[in-house]
Amino acid sequence: MIKPDGVQRGLVGRIIQRIEEKGFKIVAMRLSVMDKERAEKHYAEHAGKPFYGDLVEFITSGPSVQMVVEGKGVISAIRKMNGATNPAEAAPGTIRGDFGIETGRNVIHGSDSPESAAREIALHFSDSEIFEYKRID
Ligand code: CMP
Repeated sequence: MIKPDGVQRGLVGRIIQRIEEKGFKIVAMRLSVMDKERAEKHYAEHAGKPFYGDLVEFITSGPSVQMVVEGKGVISAIRKMNGATNPAEAAPGTIRGDFGIETGRNVIHGSDSPESAAREIALHFSDSEIFEYKRID
């Protein structure tokens, strides 16, 4: 997910370009403002943490881009491409390292396991919104 700060700062195209150039396939994509209920479900694992309220408020504050991305080793590769959660500590060359400075506005979210990816995909997309097609490289 490209978070509201990434959309507001006009980074959508550059982020998607990195994902596509890496060789991954975007099989679902939407620009939408997440409502509170959906944001709370998306970040349910962080419920009760001190930053949870601010996180839900921020993520619902404007449009974000939700995507389903497919490819070999995609979850760990995207996490590497995203960089450390705190952009101030993220390596140059990563999305957060190149584009962010604050943990609370760290541009992008990536699922951290197949289980969380399955849960998050089901939360944001119906089966008919996820497409199968052949990628030609
Ligand atoms: P994300 O990968 O979307 O997962 C949870 C988000 O909570 C994280 O990125 C950060 O943007 C946000 N967050 C805010 N404060 C903290 C914190 N202290 N520790 C971890 N995540 C935080």
